[in-house]
Amino acid sequence: MISFLVVLSATFAVACFQDKFVYSDQESPVKLTSQSVKFLFFNSSGVGEPHAVTDVKYLTNEDYDNRKKTVVFIHGFADYYPGSFMIPLLVQAYSSLGNRNIVAVEWGDLAAAPFYLSAAKNTFPVGKILAKFFNSMVKRKHHSMKMTEIIGFSLGAHVAGIASSFLVSKPKRIVGLDPAEVLFAESPLEYILDKEDAPLVEIIHTSGGFLGFKRPLGHRDFYPNGGLFPQPGCPGDISGLCSHRRAYQYFAEAVKNRGWGFKATKCDSMKNYTSGKCSGCPKLLMSNSNYNPALNGTFFLFTNSQPPFGRK
Ligand SMILES: *[C@@H]1O[C@H](CO)[C@@H](O)[C@H](O)[C@H]1NC(C)=O
Ligand SMILES: *[C@@H]1O[C@H](CO)[C@@H](O)[C@H](O)[C@H]1NC(C)=O
Ligand SMILES: *[C@@H]1O[C@H](CO)[C@@H](O)[C@H](O)[C@H]1NC(C)=O
Repeated sequence: MISFLVVLSATFAVACFQDKFVYSDQESPVKLTSQSVKFLFFNSSGVGEPHAVTDVKYLTNEDYDNRKKTVVFIHGFADYYPGSFMIPLLVQAYSSLGNRNIVAVEWGDLAAAPFYLSAAKNTFPVGKILAKFFNSMVKRKHHSMKMTEIIGFSLGAHVAGIASSFLVSKPKRIVGLDPAEVLFAESPLEYILDKEDAPLVEIIHTSGGFLGFKRPLGHRDFYPNGGLFPQPGCPGDISGLCSHRRAYQYFAEAVKNRGWGFKATKCDSMKNYTSGKCSGCPKLLMSNSNYNPALNGTFFLFTNSQPPFGRK
C-alpha cells in the first residue's frame, strides 16, 4: 500500500507540479514547528532508546562526547523513527565500530506519505534546521565538524547537501545513499547534494534514473550492479523501492565489515567494467572514508542478491 502511494504521489507530483516547484514556498500539510525536526542521540553501544532533543541545551554527557567522532543519519520520504528500517540498520552498523556519537535526524512529520511534493520541499527547511543545530553544537559543545560524517538516504541526501551551505564549517564527509531524483533532476546545486558540500562526497546509486540519480554527484560515485533498477534480488520492483533501499542495506553491511566484500573498480561504464576493460584500474572499498583526491570518479562492483550482499 505504501509503495503504491509513493509511486502515485511521485508520478502525480511530476505530472502536475514540476514547473511550479518553488522551494521557498511552504505548502506542507504539516506545519513546521520547533518540534518538527528531532535529533535522536543513540547510545554508542547501539542499545536502548535514543534521547530525542530539539535544542543542544538538552544534551547530556551520556548522549554526547565531543572527543568522539560523530555520525549523523538522515532518513528519506515516508520514513520516521521508530518505524524506520534504515535508522536501526545504520545505528547497528556504526555501533559495531564503537566509540562514536550516533545521531539520527527525525523529520517524519515533514516527510510523511503520500505528500512527496511537500517532503521534497521540506528538505530545505530541514537542512537549515540541521545546520542550525550543529552550528550550535560547535559553539556550545566545541563540536568538531571535521570529525563528523553525514549520511543521507534519498531525500535525506539532499537535506545533507542543503545543510552544508548553512554550516559554519563543512563536515568531513557526506554519503548520499541513492539521492532522490524525482523533482530534483534539474535542480540547481544549492538544492541537491553535490561535491561542493564536503571535502569528500560519496554516492551510492541503486535506482539510477528512476527514484535515484543516475549521473555522478560526488567525488566518488559507486554503482553496485550498474547502479540501475531493478537491483539483483528485487524482481518485479515496479515501485523501485526495493532497489532504492538497497543503497542503505549495502552501505550498512559495508560499514560493519569495513568494506569487506565491497571492492569497487574505477571505470567509465558498467559495460567496460563487465567486459574486463577496467581490470587494471584502481580499486576502492565502498565504505572507506579516507579521502584520497586522486581516487575519484565512478566505481563499479557486483553484489549478491541476498544478504550478505558483499562478495569475496
Ligand atoms: C552506553 O554506551 C556505553 C559505552 O558503550 C556503555 O558503557 C553503557 O552501558 C551504555 N548505556 C546503555 C544505557 O546502554
Ligand atoms: C578527480 O580529480 C581530478 C584531479 O584532481 C579532477 O580534475 C577531477 O575533477 C576530479 N573528479 C571528480 C569527480 O571529483
Ligand atoms: C569503454 O572502453 C573503450 C575502449 O577502451 C573506450 O573507447 C570507451 O570510451 C569506453 N567507454 C564506454 C562508455 O564504452
